[in-house]
Amino acid sequence: MTEMATGPGAVLASARPRTRTMKGLVLAGGKGSRLRPLTATGAKQLVPVANKPVLFYALEQLVAAGVEEIGIVTGDTAAQVEAAVGDGASFGARVTYLPQAAPLGLAHAILTAQDYLGDDPFCMFLGDNFLKRGIAPYAARFAADDSAAQILLKRVDDATAFGVAVLDENGRVQRLVEKPKQPISDLAVIGVYFFGPEVHAVTPRLTPSARGELEITDAIQGLVDAGYPVRSAVIDDDWIDTGKKDDMLEANRLVLATIGRRIEGTVDADSTVVGDVVIEAGARVVASTVRGPAIIGAGTELLDAYVGPFTAIGPRCELVGCEIEHSIVLEGSAIRGVPARIADSLIGCEVVVERSPLKPQVIRLMLGDHSLVGLV
Ligand code: G1P
Repeated sequence: MTEMATGPGAVLASARPRTRTMKGLVLAGGKGSRLRPLTATGAKQLVPVANKPVLFYALEQLVAAGVEEIGIVTGDTAAQVEAAVGDGASFGARVTYLPQAAPLGLAHAILTAQDYLGDDPFCMFLGDNFLKRGIAPYAARFAADDSAAQILLKRVDDATAFGVAVLDENGRVQRLVEKPKQPISDLAVIGVYFFGPEVHAVTPRLTPSARGELEITDAIQGLVDAGYPVRSAVIDDDWIDTGKKDDMLEANRLVLATIGRRIEGTVDADSTVVGDVVIEAGARVVASTVRGPAIIGAGTELLDAYVGPFTAIGPRCELVGCEIEHSIVLEGSAIRGVPARIADSLIGCEVVVERSPLKPQVIRLMLGDHSLVGLV
């Protein structure tokens, strides 16, 4: 990473360790409209990457960075998030749920959490953002200085989908713009932010943006304008905002590339399992080929099936007489007798895909929970 400090206060920032422990603030509300219909009823943060909800990676990475006191901001899907995460003990964390009245923006989430956060520094982690190597070095650096905020930036081809940072010739943050219409910078602001209590002086004064939200970019700009030291770091880690199908597949690819090989289910003599493949307990592979990296969830049955690279099949699925690769299939779905190979697909829970004479050679699907596809 490269690092810079900005704002007139930057010269005053000393390398004094913070006395307070850093909290986590994980955002798990929002609508997930870009992943509909999958998220019509389900939380986008619970869509799995390599059979584990994307939200869990954020929680694990916070704990790995020494952040154990974590507030989770929830919206309409609060019950699902609470059921999945519980009290946080299984992550080594103590989780407090902070219901947000309405999805009014990331800075509004900080307002919602203000009492919980108190004067403690905190790391805000968007629950649908995925970082491959975690946040430990950035957390350590923030803990060791007195900047009011630290933002992480990633160079991207098209930054108009994100908040972007414009740096001056010295690399200081000059301006932050939320989803600029014209490409003004290739530095996207990623969904992991570090704040000191100074941010609470700014958030109550924000006004809603054109999309009706209190923008986090405006909050950070407020800190810069007020002269507080704001650091930025350009990261070289893999970062994915998993808001869309192809982003989910990419995150899945990144994690599957690291899973190794573990066979806990059964594989019969007529099957071939090649490469890094995890077959979880109770899964059965019969007369099938699995070519990794891939994961087959607990209790899933493969019969006369091919599962190719970069595929995550959730628990309790049934794959019979079909071929699938570079895809994610959620819990309890069935794919039977499909003549063409399925690829690049994200299939929800309890979906049924059955044989049909239609023949695209590659089937691309994005199916919601409880969908039923009847192929003739
Ligand atoms: C949000 C932030 C944006 C940031 C992005 C990262 O966008 O507003 O500044 O770049 O997360 O994922 P949203 O997901 O609300 O569109």
